[in-house]
Amino acid sequence: MSFETVYEVRNVSKRYGSVVALDDASLKIGAGEVVGLVGDNGAGKSTLVKVLSGAHQPDGGQILLDGEEHVWHSPKIALEAGVETLYQESGLAPHLTVAQNVFLGREIPVKGILGKMGFLARKKMAADAEADLERIGIAFASSGRPVSALSGGQRQAVAIGRSVTWARKVIILDEPTNHLGARQAGEVLHIIENAKKQGLGVVFISHTLPHVLQVCDRIVVLRLGKIVKDAPASFFTNETLLGYITGAIQTLQEDAE
Ligand SMILES: Nc1ncnc2c1ncn2[C@@H]1O[C@H](COP(=O)(O)OP(=O)(O)OP(=O)(O)O)[C@@H](O)[C@H]1O
Ligand SMILES: [Mg+2]
Repeated sequence: MSFETVYEVRNVSKRYGSVVALDDASLKIGAGEVVGLVGDNGAGKSTLVKVLSGAHQPDGGQILLDGEEHVWHSPKIALEAGVETLYQESGLAPHLTVAQNVFLGREIPVKGILGKMGFLARKKMAADAEADLERIGIAFASSGRPVSALSGGQRQAVAIGRSVTWARKVIILDEPTNHLGARQAGEVLHIIENAKKQGLGVVFISHTLPHVLQVCDRIVVLRLGKIVKDAPASFFTNETLLGYITGAIQTLQEDAE
């Protein structure tokens, strides 16, 4: 199945001092395509995420959204253009409710003069948040519960739900199933499938290879800042994927040559 490219980086590089975190990486993400990004600790996955999200400027290379070149001077600009990111350390405000977290930074004022005075449309936000979360497959007893009263898995679901709700073109999920039990991780994978159905381009980062193989259309392997393999998920088995991640497969090929 082929996807129409919605987001693309060409030849991006990023150094931190003497560390080359990303070396000439090129990647395409299609609308309705789930792209897995895998690699060992320190391979450069989060660095690529930060370049895609506008949090870090690449030292070189191009970023194209809908075929148009962009320079993200801040994550806010990328966000407004439709690129939503869930960072590895997701920031939810524990004392706020689920609904307030969904609308954090995007609060809706009430209409008229009261809105100008800073009054917020709390009921509307609560109802909208609940409907949005339900639409993408997250059901909560109440969106009025404070996030501090949720389990780790439920918090993660809220964080992802918030990203999927707002994403218009692309959603980047950096290890969203980390620290989750099997059932909650399954729910996250379900949310990813829903995001795909909505036509979003999804970047999914995880060290849990069966999850990556289950949910992704295509898998990109990073090693030491370089993309060493980019192929349809059906190309890999758990073992060969691990081989590309560790470098064992490339070593074998080199030995054979
Ligand atoms: N802010 C920074 N300053 C200096 N070096 C950094 C910084 N961020 C990342 N690095 C280095 O860049 C390399 C790539 O790091 P990155 O966080 O992208 O890896 P990762 O693939 O996300 O790893 P993990 O699976 O552990 O999350 C590593 O060598 C790391 O030490
Ligand atoms: Mg990382």
